[in-house]
Amino acid sequence: MFHYGAEEELEGFVSSAQDSIEFKFVEKEADIFNDELVFRPEFTHQVFENEKIFGYKNLKIKLYYTPDHLTSFIDIHYDDKVNPRLHQGARPDNIFKLLLNWIPEGFLTNQDHFISKLTRPHPFTPFGELLHVHGETSDHRYEIYKVDISSVGFKEYHEKLQTFLIWFVDAASYIDTDDDKWTFYLIFKRSSAGQYAIAGYATVYAYYAYPDKIRPRISQMLILPPYQRKGLGGQLLQAVYDDLVSDTRVLDITVEDPSDEFTALRDYIDCRNALKLSSTSSPLHSNEIEKNCQEKLKLSKRQSRRVYEILRLRVTDRRQSKDYRDFRLFVKNRLNGPYKKQQKDLEKLHTRGLDQSELVAAAPLLSGEERMRLLQDEYELLETQYAAVIEKLATD
Ligand SMILES: CC(C)(COP(=O)(O)OP(=O)(O)OC[C@H]1O[C@@H](n2cnc3c(N)ncnc32)[C@H](O)[C@@H]1OP(=O)(O)O)[C@@H](O)C(=O)NCCC(=O)NCCS
Repeated sequence: MFHYGAEEELEGFVSSAQDSIEFKFVEKEADIFNDELVFRPEFTHQVFENEKIFGYKNLKIKLYYTPDHLTSFIDIHYDDKVNPRLHQGARPDNIFKLLLNWIPEGFLTNQDHFISKLTRPHPFTPFGELLHVHGETSDHRYEIYKVDISSVGFKEYHEKLQTFLIWFVDAASYIDTDDDKWTFYLIFKRSSAGQYAIAGYATVYAYYAYPDKIRPRISQMLILPPYQRKGLGGQLLQAVYDDLVSDTRVLDITVEDPSDEFTALRDYIDCRNALKLSSTSSPLHSNEIEKNCQEKLKLSKRQSRRVYEILRLRVTDRRQSKDYRDFRLFVKNRLNGPYKKQQKDLEKLHTRGLDQSELVAAAPLLSGEERMRLLQDEYELLETQYAAVIEKLATD
């Protein structure tokens, strides 16, 4: 039985996983001691239940990587550990075991050994084909490569690379690389001395489309935190688009379960590309824009309509009530589409003789007022997202 105050005492052994874990890319020995290089995970719930780690005081977990070969070093440090004999049988979480569910074996745990790996006889060369170079300065430039899993050594490299996903992409899962329909696009920073540092990557799966086409789907995309909001995500997405659009087998390019951040990036890049194709920016012809998006940019029907809405709002005078009202109606009609369909389906069920309770079980009904409120909320959220894209387009 716990003695009085035992619970409070044990609470002292609970750490936030996010605060305890620190990532770092280590190029040279001095980087190990440079706190400015630290970045922390966004998501820890897949590895540590409730994003907490039990059993340690002042816990610090270092997950360090070399930026080129991704040789990793793990160190777990704490001031005190819960003792089952002194703390009513409470056992500390086995951190290594939990990490090993996600991180491949082969990481180093000895700091000196890790440091010895920083000077290498064999310089790193990226895998695959160089697609694009940009952002050249006297110090560095960025290079984007396309590679598939058959490239010698890439499977092992990818196993290390994907370990970042669980920490930085919400609800991410690892992919089955034995399936040869995956293509990988990697972005590296290359120093003027020729050293490479990984900055991010994207994976694309080629779904089959009848009879002889493919429908590529962007599955994962990650720009590593030290490199975010520097325009690299846009460069990487554009490189993926350029590569796929030129392939005559490609029907359209879709995205799997995009995050809000990715949606913001994609909207901006898609609108920018659509504007380049548009013969005139005003008045906006929905036909022309949506047709270009689908046929020339190979965007899905849904994304093409979204691009049109953003570009239409861009030239709508929001003080001039008629244009603005027409725009709101136009968007709300689309948002209301699934609801109208549901209503129709319910009417059909009704004519087939289902009573009211069976109808409600088939689809919970919202009152007219609730539906209007929901529609307004949905619309306002969209307009905020669209306005952010319009603002970004104005800076180009
Ligand atoms: C989403 C992600 C790929 C964007 O890459 P990035 O290199 O940071 O984006 P860029 O610098 O090219 O952004 C270009 C523009 O896109 C928009 N944008 C990009 N990230 C955004 C964000 N987090 N919030 C709002 N707008 C964003 C902005 O307009 C941005 O311009 P700005 O920085 O001048 O405001 C990157 O932040 C990331 O990997 N995030 C974590 C993982 C994730 O969500 N992946 C997608 C899973 S589907």
